[in-house]
Amino acid sequence: MEKILYPSTQRRLRTDQHIRELTATVKLSHKSFIQPVFIEEGLAQPRDIAGLSHVQVHTTESVQDYIEFLLSEDITKIILFPIPANKTTHHFDFGFAAAIIKKIKVSFGNSIWLAADLCLCSYTIHGHCGILTDDHSELINNKTVQVLCNYAVTLSQAGADCIAPSDMMDGRIGAIRQTLDAFQFDSVTIMSYAAKFSSQFYGPFRDACHSAPNSKKLQNRKTYQVSPANGNDAVVSALRDAQEGADILMIKPAALYTDIISRIHQSTSKPIAAYHVSGEYAAIESLVRNGLADRASVHLEVWTALQRSGANIIISYAACNAKKWIEQNEY
Ligand code: PBG
Repeated sequence: MEKILYPSTQRRLRTDQHIRELTATVKLSHKSFIQPVFIEEGLAQPRDIAGLSHVQVHTTESVQDYIEFLLSEDITKIILFPIPANKTTHHFDFGFAAAIIKKIKVSFGNSIWLAADLCLCSYTIHGHCGILTDDHSELINNKTVQVLCNYAVTLSQAGADCIAPSDMMDGRIGAIRQTLDAFQFDSVTIMSYAAKFSSQFYGPFRDACHSAPNSKKLQNRKTYQVSPANGNDAVVSALRDAQEGADILMIKPAALYTDIISRIHQSTSKPIAAYHVSGEYAAIESLVRNGLADRASVHLEVWTALQRSGANIIISYAACNAKKWIEQNEY
């Protein structure tokens, strides 16, 4: 008989799908997923987005069918990105965002949970997430927070279940919470983009929303988004948002930042959302297009990693497939 060299083998637990299923420490559920949805004012036909295969920017009409489709796939949570037709620098018109949320809520009521992204980057001519000084050298924190508070009220009045501030100004979570409470929107949830890194992986999204920063003096978002080289800042910012009243803490991008997800998970008991952003999605979709990965399996692997690191909620451009992919998942 062959001598057994490694009696404490780990391979027994990998023998077949039964034992792998039994011993898995991560079990995904489509119930944890949020689908991002883009809608553009004045758009005549749904349009494709460079790099984001299977995702479109919707018209006010096509979004209705798209949400029907999501519900048929048992995906009931969405995060909405309204894209206004006109851009400005100061006096913003939130009418389109309000109208589309009202329309969706009238059609679908409480069968969907609707989070509205709260940011000014698709409203501003310069593409920054708020109000700049006259010489465009700086983003003014407090003036921006005031506008965001007004926008949050408008979105809540329209029927949003959740407000998701993605601007990264200081103090905005506390200010928005206070404002919403003062307007009796105390049941509206805040999902804070708590640890949002200054990342190259937002490219396809910015293309979709026409929101890339384009000011000569301020060419990127490094003065307000977290540096990828400063994990501590991400943790401090997330805990600060939790203290100011955020109900859910979001980390983004996701797959490159699982260390941050895990650190925040260990530092707070608040629910954690991981946003697998447009560039991350586009990167793995390009593997798939080149025949180098299986589409369902590669997304499932990413989602598994996000949940393993501590995320309870996953925001993914492929969320619409979550139920069928998870059901087919082979461990
Ligand atoms: C708006 C916002 C961005 C994303 C979500 N909200 C882009 C940015 O900060 O430039 C990125 C989402 C994605 O890339 O999927 N501030």
